Amino acid sequence: CRHIKDSKRLVFIGAPGAGKGTHSYKLQNTFCLCQISTGDLLRNEIRTGTQLGKQAKTIMEKGGLVPDEIVINMVKNSLMKPDCAKGAILDGFPRTIQQAQKFDEILKNEGLSLFKAIYFKVEDDVILERLGGRLVHLPSGRSYHTKYNPPKIPGKDDITGEDLSQRPDDVPQTIKTRLENFHSQTKPMLDYYEKQGLLATINAQASITNVWRQIKDVFKSGKQTSE
Ligand code: AP5
Repeated sequence: CRHIKDSKRLVFIGAPGAGKGTHSYKLQNTFCLCQISTGDLLRNEIRTGTQLGKQAKTIMEKGGLVPDEIVINMVKNSLMKPDCAKGAILDGFPRTIQQAQKFDEILKNEGLSLFKAIYFKVEDDVILERLGGRLVHLPSGRSYHTKYNPPKIPGKDDITGEDLSQRPDDVPQTIKTRLENFHSQTKPMLDYYEKQGLLATINAQASITNVWRQIKDVFKSGKQTSE
């Protein structure tokens, strides 16, 4: 990956299936950033059977939001790790105005700042098709799509060759709840970042190649070049 001079911290905001995970993985690997995905961190807790994982599992299976305190602590711990000193992508966090305010406090206390909050704008009807065809490598969080982003070998992770699977929350009823929560709890946060002049909206309905170009433009110049 290519090291950049300034360390930049970015927040990725978007509905489930908007492409946050796909592109944070690319951005991380291109510019040597660290990726902090609260969803992946929580799934890791579930997989290793911790008490926190047990608590999160029931909530996530229903498509609800895990309590702010839990995710805030996770982010705080991750952000302080040495590999995040060169910059970080926050994927799926913050998700509520309360989390955004708390995140600002954490950054301020550490003498850090936020470079941009990128909003992946996608219509709801696209989400179902995306999540219906999604396959994930659960241990790493790498995400594929049977049609739009197929793995090199069907059903296998490109890096490890291990099996890919469907996420348990990628079922119609849970997707519906996740989308409702996005509209009621996460979308109001856009205004919060807009007022601070930090919001960049990208057209995440375009092809993966096009979305990637838009993200790189924001990352390099701080400006959105198309919507
Ligand atoms: P999380 O894991 O964050 O899930 P999410 O926000 O619902 O987002 P997804 O991971 O489903 O979608 P994505 O935007 O990453 O899409 P992807 O790139 O894979 O959270 C899961 C749960 O954890 C939450 O429901 C909640 O319970 C809990 N949680 C997490 N964070 C929390 C927080 N901060 N507070 C409280 N609770 C929290 O892409 C989707 C598919 O589309 C893939 O197949 C991909 O290949 C394909 N694709 C991507 N881009 C394109 C494109 N441009 N064109 C065509 N296909 C595309």
